Amino acid sequence: MPLVTTTDMLKKAYEGNYAIGAFNVNNLEIIQGITEAAAELNAPLILQVSAGARRYAKHVYLMKLIEAAEIDTGLPIAVHLDHGEDFEICKACIDGGFTSVMIDGSHHSFEDNISLTAQVVQYAHERGVTVEGELGRLAGIEDDVNVTDEDASFTRPDEVEEFVTRTGVDSLAIAIGTSHGAYKFKPGQTPRLRFDILEEVSKRLPGFPIVLHGASSVVPEFVKTINTYGGEMEDAIGIPEDMLRQAASMAVCKINIDSDLRLGMTAGIREHLSLNPTHFDPRQYLAPGRENIKSLVRHKIETVLGCDGKA
Ligand code: G3H
Ligand code: 13P
Ligand code: ZN
Repeated sequence: MPLVTTTDMLKKAYEGNYAIGAFNVNNLEIIQGITEAAAELNAPLILQVSAGARRYAKHVYLMKLIEAAEIDTGLPIAVHLDHGEDFEICKACIDGGFTSVMIDGSHHSFEDNISLTAQVVQYAHERGVTVEGELGRLAGIEDDVNVTDEDASFTRPDEVEEFVTRTGVDSLAIAIGTSHGAYKFKPGQTPRLRFDILEEVSKRLPGFPIVLHGASSVVPEFVKTINTYGGEMEDAIGIPEDMLRQAASMAVCKINIDSDLRLGMTAGIREHLSLNPTHFDPRQYLAPGRENIKSLVRHKIETVLGCDGKA
């Protein structure tokens, strides 16, 4: 099967009360760890690429690696631009074979977000590519942009129908209390998501797929391993998995995970090099990182997303 758009997979996820994992990728080992897990569980996949990942690895390398993953596994895989900030990067990704793009106009005014998003939708739809928009603003770090807690804002349900109707987007990312990066809640703080906003948004957009960014759980075992083997991470608290499961059973059809992959890769490499200080072959220390990613993604698919067997 060639690379696919997100249309079919998100529709089935909505109807089946589960979610598709959207995993950020930037190298061979990350792509292999994710796709091997998905292949064993027969799960559809969204592999997403940020502007930073695209700069790091180059568009063509990532595109070819993802095509290779599709050939290797035969899974339905969508290749998606994560947090496209302007029309130009969306156009470059559409022209370069991506099947889906996100235009993140959440930093603009409502009207400017609508006109930018509508421009991307028109270009994308004429070429059979799906588009994700965003309303509301998450805290945390994306590329070099650091949105402080004070600047973050929840999605306003009274804006979503107008936004979706006037832009024509295929899915909508909303802000309900998740945030990017490994430090989502302060030590002692009880994680809380605004399920009331999700509920209200889904009432206003029946059948329409919602996207949750900033959805890493910040796996404690990975943080512990990193710190056991020389790391100095502070107490990191992520989104509890039962909350993600609840969101997946509601209108959330795409759940974005990047930080957990980074932690798994780093934990594997740190542990291996600490226990084997004479090793210098990258294959020896990258393989445990890849293995951690594979077991992480297996776990997410089976216990959080519920998309196993849905490919
Ligand atoms: O939402 C942001 C993703 O984690 C991508 O991060 O821009 O550092 O590649 P990045
Ligand atoms: P995390 O930092 O929680 O993994 O979020 C990733 C994300 O939203 C990518 O768009
Ligand atoms: Zn994001």
